[in-house]
Amino acid sequence: MLTEPVSPNARWALDPVVVHLNHGSFGGCLRSVLDVAAAARARVEAAPMRFFVLEWQTELDRARAALAAFVGADAERMAFVPSSTTGVAIALHSATIAAGDEILTTSHVYAACLFQLQRLATERGARIVIVDIALPFEPDELVASVAAAITPRTRLALLDHITSPTALRLPIERLIPLFSARDIPVLVDGAHAPGQIELDVERLGATWYVGNCHKWLCAPKASGFLAWSAAAAATLRPLVTSHGASAAYGPANRQHAELDWSGTYDPSAQLAVPSAITAMAHEGGGWPAILARNHALALELRDRLADGTSARLAPDHAIGTMAAIPIALPAGTDARSLERALLVSGWEVPIVDHPSGPLVRVSAHLYNHAGEADLLAGKLRSLGVRIRGDRD
Ligand SMILES: Cc1ncc(COP(=O)(O)O)c(C=O)c1O
Repeated sequence: MLTEPVSPNARWALDPVVVHLNHGSFGGCLRSVLDVAAAARARVEAAPMRFFVLEWQTELDRARAALAAFVGADAERMAFVPSSTTGVAIALHSATIAAGDEILTTSHVYAACLFQLQRLATERGARIVIVDIALPFEPDELVASVAAAITPRTRLALLDHITSPTALRLPIERLIPLFSARDIPVLVDGAHAPGQIELDVERLGATWYVGNCHKWLCAPKASGFLAWSAAAAATLRPLVTSHGASAAYGPANRQHAELDWSGTYDPSAQLAVPSAITAMAHEGGGWPAILARNHALALELRDRLADGTSARLAPDHAIGTMAAIPIALPAGTDARSLERALLVSGWEVPIVDHPSGPLVRVSAHLYNHAGEADLLAGKLRSLGVRIRGDRD
């Protein structure tokens, strides 16, 4: 029932007095999964040398295999990274970009990754080509605009699988082949994809695919991953040169040797990923049921907030388990000040300062229910915020 949470708040580490409508930004964990991570950390600290010398690689490989099976990646071509931002940085560090090259992305790209592209482009004398995604989102139009923006100078594309500011599911199954047909490397930023939509990394065929486990999979923070194609293996370059630079160190897989160990770190979040996958499946009646229920709830939250207006930014199939709704702010309020006003009064919900106008983005996970849209609508009204729709 969408009017009831599937998973009571008490099983989560979430503060019960806070309204949590932003799973998308920083995730959230079941207490049982945090216990697994805490137990792993306790074992590390009980006998650090024994753990890192005798146990770490085997346990990491086991966690990697479970995650690879879940996201449809090849474990031999996948490594844990602390975050998607780091995974994007490693992929860009591995890309061959020279003066005059063009790097293609979209106007809804995650800001931190755009900054990475800008730094790379400035350093190498390359140019960033930004394909505009107009709202309301029309997937066919995007495919046509991307195809039209590819030139003989295009050397790299960065595509978000699900956009952060607008919660749009981009048709990357149709976009990637536009580049691979021309041997242009494609980096997919799938920070939001694992646990939000069905994912088969290998089938997508990107050159690099980056994702997070600490968002929709509900693993502890600092558990992202980077997967790469067979063709990209030879040129993969870690950001940190460490022991793996020596052929005498580590596993036979040289990418694992170079990426798994960048220096002493806390592996407990990564080691808890298999528990997050199984505990969540148990909590929500299996992952297919979780995805379906959360998708339906995201649509319901959107529709209740839109309240009969045409405030829909995308067709239903281009939405996962988050939705963004256009709003109008009262005079003297900007997106940042509204977001902070909500935060200090116990509402975790992002307010996006989008070029098309401010947006409120809501997330739907197992602890959310449709009534929260009505509560949020009331809260926004009390702050003088209106939904922007066809009554404007
Ligand atoms: C599209 C996208 N990329 C990257 C990130 C950053 O993830 P992380 O903070 O784990 O690096 C986010 C976070 O919301 C995102 O939405």
